[in-house]
Amino acid sequence: MAEPVVEIRGLRKEYAGRKGHQVADLDLTVPEGEVHGFLGPNGSGKTTTIRMLLGLAAATRGSMSLFGVPVPSRLPEVVGRVGAVVESPKFSPSFTGRQNLLLLARSVGVPDARVDAAIETVGLRGREQGRYKTYSLGMKQRLAIAATLLKDPRLLILDEPTNGLDPAGIREVREVIRGLGEAGVTVLLSSHILAEVQQVCTTATIIGNGRTLATGSVASLIGASTSHRVVAPDLAAARTALAAAGLSATEDDADGLLVATEQPGEITRALGEAGVWLTELSPIGGDLESTFLSLTERDRMGGTER
Ligand SMILES: Nc1ncnc2c1ncn2[C@@H]1O[C@H](COP(=O)(O)OP(=O)(O)O)[C@@H](O)[C@H]1O
Ligand SMILES: [Mg+2]
Repeated sequence: MAEPVVEIRGLRKEYAGRKGHQVADLDLTVPEGEVHGFLGPNGSGKTTTIRMLLGLAAATRGSMSLFGVPVPSRLPEVVGRVGAVVESPKFSPSFTGRQNLLLLARSVGVPDARVDAAIETVGLRGREQGRYKTYSLGMKQRLAIAATLLKDPRLLILDEPTNGLDPAGIREVREVIRGLGEAGVTVLLSSHILAEVQQVCTTATIIGNGRTLATGSVASLIGASTSHRVVAPDLAAARTALAAAGLSATEDDADGLLVATEQPGEITRALGEAGVWLTELSPIGGDLESTFLSLTERDRMGGTER
């Protein structure tokens, strides 16, 4: 197997003087050539992780590497192969999109021809002579991606690049990311939007509360049914029996419980042994959303500091 482009092991971030963690026990592997989704709810630690990876924040512990080179200690060796959009870059409002890129290209010694190639890649051809201040948010975001493409990176790190965009802008940015993936660029795309990861990514890591909950191909993450819905006449008794068997059950609606297990047998055995009848047992799954909800729910139920 090819060397992973990004490898994070046991990453942790604590803030001095604050209890708990921002990131804890986080593992992340991005294989070469994949568009990898870094999926987690708001506040789960995506930006913090990316900032540590790029040397913008210090980790409390853990190890990280890019292209097999340990970072941040040897970041300068690989930084030329990495493009990142983490915060909104500063462009000059009264310059055109192209002028802004030319300025950047010349400041880093990249030939002007790359500017037009980058404009083409992000679909801004025909709009590059418009002033930056007249651009829509989606165009501004695509210009930011174009800026990172100037040095022809092998890895692109994008932190929630569709946040705040309108539906058209979202679609445009997703198309650009998909196109880059098809062109062979490895992409790490953070998002709290399941549909985005499902549409754009080939592999993904799901995190909750700063921890890795699941990782793998998007197809395999979607495929597994990770929870079951149970309907029983006596829900309170069912809940007690499930809890006694170590299964976490939460209210799905007034009639049913959501039980975080892939194994329906565990549920029937727990209920059967307690003499609780069930009237319905159905797998929940088949899309990333249910996987995600079930994983984050399970994490919340058992969500104590390790
Ligand atoms: N400067 C900071 N000091 C202390 N805690 C912070 C700081 N910035 C973010 N946090 C907390 O760290 C956690 C992770 O935040 P963040 O990495 O921004 O999550 P995400 O990008 O997934 O939304 C959150 O609980 C957030 O409130
Ligand atoms: Mg964030």
